[in-house]
Amino acid sequence: MASQPATKKSSAASRYLFLFLVGLVVGAVAAVMAMRALQARHDPFPDSVMNVMARHSGLLSDKIKQNRCAATDTVPHVRTLRAMANDLEMAFPGLADDKRFQGHTSQFRADLDSALATPPTDCAGAEALLKQVGTDCKACHQDFRG
Ligand code: HEC
Repeated sequence: MASQPATKKSSAASRYLFLFLVGLVVGAVAAVMAMRALQARHDPFPDSVMNVMARHSGLLSDKIKQNRCAATDTVPHVRTLRAMANDLEMAFPGLADDKRFQGHTSQFRADLDSALATPPTDCAGAEALLKQVGTDCKACHQDFRG
């Protein structure tokens, strides 16, 4: 008879422990699911396109600072900018039908195309190109970057 209450007590304790562990697991699963949902809502692609373009604009600027302005120094960065410019509509599908957005993308692509057709051969030319690119970035950002 004396052992009866002790058994009851320990089974109650293990029941609480079990419930506590279930709560812990459910909580952890719910936290992971919530994090996944938050991540899924944020598409990394648009910011990735922009960051690649920013990096290559920066590298182009570095070349000018280093006084390395042969076409072989600058053209690879212009080419990457031009390739990324193809993805602007894919990056911002919600803006792709906007006339002003289309104006900015086509101006940006046209400027890069003419730079690739007649690449700068000295730092003055590269500087002018960098300025042009910066103007194109800014034009679209002024209208569409929240
Ligand atoms: C046709 C439109 C357009 C052009 C051209 C454009 N951008 Fe953007 N950019 C955007 C929009 C829209 C955003 C806001 C994206 C967001 O917050 O989701 C943005 C955001 C950015 C960001 C912030 C990204 C981040 O991680 O939050 C950087 C950096 C950037 N642009 C760099 C550039 C550079 C450099 C150029 C030119 C070489 C450029 N962009 C040209 C539309 C453009």
